[in-house]
Amino acid sequence: MHKVPEITLNDGLTLPVIGLGTYALNGNAGASAIQNAIHAGYRLIDSAYNYENEGTVGEAVKRSSVPREELRITSKLPGRYQHYDKAVTTIQESLYRASLDYYDLYLIHWPNPKQDLYVEAWQALIDAQKWGLIRSIGVCNFLPEHIERLEKETGVKPSVNQIELHPFFNQEQQRKWHQEHNIVTESWSPLARANHLLENETIQQMAQHHNKSLSQIVLRWHYQLGAVSIPKSASSVRQIENISIFDFSLDETEMSLISELTRPDGRINNQDPAVYEEF
Ligand SMILES: NC(=O)c1ccc[n+]([C@@H]2O[C@H](COP(=O)([O-])OP(=O)(O)OC[C@H]3O[C@@H](n4cnc5c(N)ncnc54)[C@H](OP(=O)(O)O)[C@@H]3O)[C@@H](O)[C@H]2O)c1
Repeated sequence: MHKVPEITLNDGLTLPVIGLGTYALNGNAGASAIQNAIHAGYRLIDSAYNYENEGTVGEAVKRSSVPREELRITSKLPGRYQHYDKAVTTIQESLYRASLDYYDLYLIHWPNPKQDLYVEAWQALIDAQKWGLIRSIGVCNFLPEHIERLEKETGVKPSVNQIELHPFFNQEQQRKWHQEHNIVTESWSPLARANHLLENETIQQMAQHHNKSLSQIVLRWHYQLGAVSIPKSASSVRQIENISIFDFSLDETEMSLISELTRPDGRINNQDPAVYEEF
């Protein structure tokens, strides 16, 4: 079993630096895949109300022999339930679906700024944390201006901001801002969904040099940036590959070469949180 290093959030909760993404891991096959990941050493499991797999994650937790307190289970509040009352009900529904007493991390999935309800959604997360339903509260896809508003209007800042982050979109400024505000950056689609990234020549050369796979080079880059990454894999072989990155390191030149692959239009689906909305 692989031991993944941990970091400490601004509210004291610890998180492993690599977790399992679970988008499209559903049903019995999904539960088996997540169970395999836990067996391999994954302790952080990402999910979302909108992935319709909170029950699948809960089933994997139930099947695993790992004590609940060693796991870090995440879910996310959808845009259509950002009204305070709906947000509270949705958090309770997420727990019900997963058969859990609490989530370790619960995130607002998208800010949906046109809708302008994310501050009341945040208040619901703050209250749910007080009631013991959630251990740590955070956001996804929030720009600095959105987070500043949360802190100004509620006095509470997120522990985590989960954002699109991979070599084609390295989020340098947003990461710097998080660091200055003691917020952990969590990388979604850390492998850029394994499309062109895992054919990239620069990364290929580094992989050969270190005798590692391209995914391992990319996930090591996330780790050395200080970001928590959540690669999704249904395959137990690739799951193990993705957490076996703690026996080598990239030097400064290699880190820069990977970061330089970024492009202004490098987002996978052009989902700019300033305008994109998801419900
Ligand atoms: N907050 C948000 O708005 C948001 C948005 C998107 C995603 N997410 C979260 O982030 C997680 C990760 O992102 P993602 O699923 O979009 O993309 P990803 O993790 O970058 O890539 C997943 C793809 O890479 C393949 N893969 C994984 N490991 C591999 C390896 N070692 N070698 C080759 N291929 C490999 C997987 O296939 P196999 O399964 O066949 O291995 C899958 O097709 C999601 O699952 C979800 O939990 C959050």
